[in-house]
Amino acid sequence: MKYQKPTINRVDFALASKYGSPLKSQKIKSSIDGVSVNELTKEYGSPLFVFSQRAIEEKYNELHEAFSSRYPDVQFWWSYKTNYLDAICQVFHNLGSKAEVVSEFEYQKARRLGIEGKDIIFNGPYKQKEFLKQAALEGAKIHIDHLYEINDLEDVADEIGQEIKVAIRCNMDTGIYPQWSRFGFNIDNGEAYEAIKRIYEGKKLILTGLHSHIGTFMLNANAYGQETKKLIELKNRVEEEFGYNIEYIDIGGGFASKSRLKGVYQAPEVIVPSADEYAEAITNAIFEHNKGNLPKLFLETGRALIDEAGYLLSSVFASKRMPDGKKSYIIDAGVNLLYTSFWYNFDIMLDKRYEGINEPSQINGPLCMNIDIIAENIMLPPLDRESVLTIWPAGAYSVTQAMQFIRYKPSIVLIDKESKVHLIKDADDLEYIVEKEHMPEVLK
Ligand SMILES: Cc1ncc(COP(=O)(O)O)c(C=O)c1O
Repeated sequence: MKYQKPTINRVDFALASKYGSPLKSQKIKSSIDGVSVNELTKEYGSPLFVFSQRAIEEKYNELHEAFSSRYPDVQFWWSYKTNYLDAICQVFHNLGSKAEVVSEFEYQKARRLGIEGKDIIFNGPYKQKEFLKQAALEGAKIHIDHLYEINDLEDVADEIGQEIKVAIRCNMDTGIYPQWSRFGFNIDNGEAYEAIKRIYEGKKLILTGLHSHIGTFMLNANAYGQETKKLIELKNRVEEEFGYNIEYIDIGGGFASKSRLKGVYQAPEVIVPSADEYAEAITNAIFEHNKGNLPKLFLETGRALIDEAGYLLSSVFASKRMPDGKKSYIIDAGVNLLYTSFWYNFDIMLDKRYEGINEPSQINGPLCMNIDIIAENIMLPPLDRESVLTIWPAGAYSVTQAMQFIRYKPSIVLIDKESKVHLIKDADDLEYIVEKEHMPEVLK
């Protein structure tokens, strides 16, 4: 038997419950879609982001089915900012998703993947005129965020000598606070109606859609019922008053994933509404309030479709005991890769069963920064150097928000439906990082 250094642990009886002792239970994940996590880190290095195509497709099909079984004309638009790796976007496009982008960079990325302008929704508060012009010429669906953008688009319409089809983004009270009121025009105080009137009177833009995105990680499906009702009532009004034909309403994204939000004590399995609950609230509100033609229904769901399909594998580099007696591990992934760890308590799973009893432990990242903590208080058995931890769910916003800070960004792989592993992004290296730097001659 392998020698294990003895430790004396205080047994805290407050930790015991009728479900058993937390001193022995271990969450284990030794493989992803049949591929061993140890093999993955051996082959592609550690840390390593891993995406499961199977999990993406299952989630997409579940959500799409929930909507398309209730409503005749549903279109999903993949929210690029949630995860804009080429291969991930391609999985969504192959499933039938079009692209939703919020910057010229994301727009260019979608175009580079072969997505036509007409299949791109261009959202966001910062769209420079030159990119509005490109989007208008390519027939993209431009969602106006503020009055300056109306003026800019009218200038573009003059420049290109044609009317431009547009939508406006709206915000409103849906019973969820704080409200996301900084984007678009407010429906409740009449601002959205006034903006539409302004568009109508300008005679250079044609309103064809209404959009809103009420927030992210929305745990209350009824908020979407409220949102949809208000968008449809606005649609009815402007169709009647201005003779518009509103082709679509876009209810945005925001459906919750199975992450554990810090400060929320119930399990995600209990509090996250199902795909059917979201779909029911939205489609019921359309059927109940719509007058005239049924609009197309657009969704820009991001996190709910990708979060659980993404994992971050990380290895134990060292351990120490802190002055207060608490065990602390240093692993090779930190807040540089999991910016989202400020909001989420991730599931942290072990590659195998470890001998010994659990003790309260802290998991620190590799950065020489005091804030680099992945888990402050987690019950873990004694782990070896190089034990592989699977951090989950890590598919939404982690790759796009990962920082090149102190360390290189790691490789990323996709496991396809036949359990074949594909490298979809190389780890950064020094050459790549300094490529755009310049040394002034006088300093040499
Ligand atoms: C306009 C818009 N659409 C869609 C999304 C995707 O949201 P989520 O990932 O919460 O589904 C966002 C994210 O903030 C957004 O701003």
